[in-house]
Amino acid sequence: MELVFATHNPNKIKEVRLLLPAHIRLHTLESLGCYTDIPETGATLEENARLKADYVAGRYGLPCFADDTGLLVNALHGAPGVHSARYAGGQKSAGDNMDKLLRELENTHDREARFETVIALVQDGDTRFFKGEVRGTITREKSGQGGFGYDPVFMPDGYDRTFAALPLEVKNRISHRARALQELIAYLQGPGAGGA
Ligand code: IMP
Repeated sequence: MELVFATHNPNKIKEVRLLLPAHIRLHTLESLGCYTDIPETGATLEENARLKADYVAGRYGLPCFADDTGLLVNALHGAPGVHSARYAGGQKSAGDNMDKLLRELENTHDREARFETVIALVQDGDTRFFKGEVRGTITREKSGQGGFGYDPVFMPDGYDRTFAALPLEVKNRISHRARALQELIAYLQGPGAGGA
């Protein structure tokens, strides 16, 4: 089957390509020539994921999925959450976002946090949601060269290194997005999928 992943993020495309079964032909916004910055104006991860998937499915007439992710920090009552990308401002700088987070938590012992991903799949006019989360802690400083976004300051439970310091295969087994994607893949391979 053909499927579009509505993202401009090459790191996410790399992660997803490693996980999707071979019979699914993956298109990306780049391979479709779509350079629009689709607005993420929703109040929830679900709304944002749906906005992106709807836009692309409508424009290209192909089944499409999009993800939206938030980092929810316990001591900050769930912030930055749906605002994770713009936590330190509209320039969406990963470095600035992490610096702000480390500053906010400077005197805080509670370092618990979790990533949540929602994937919206739009297919034949129908929308379905798939969710994944991973729990962990926010480190006191950045470490690791891999990954993207908040990876250098997020250490998943059960590991002694950040996502940015762990091999991509490990992140891809346990991450929020990997888990949401496993749900999506199970659905696409299951009896109710229609066209898979
Ligand atoms: P979005 O889902 O791409 O809009 O991501 C929202 C925010 O979460 C951005 O700041 C991303 O960099 C960050 N983010 C998304 N996925 C990950 C991840 O796997 N690791 C670290 N940060 C992420």
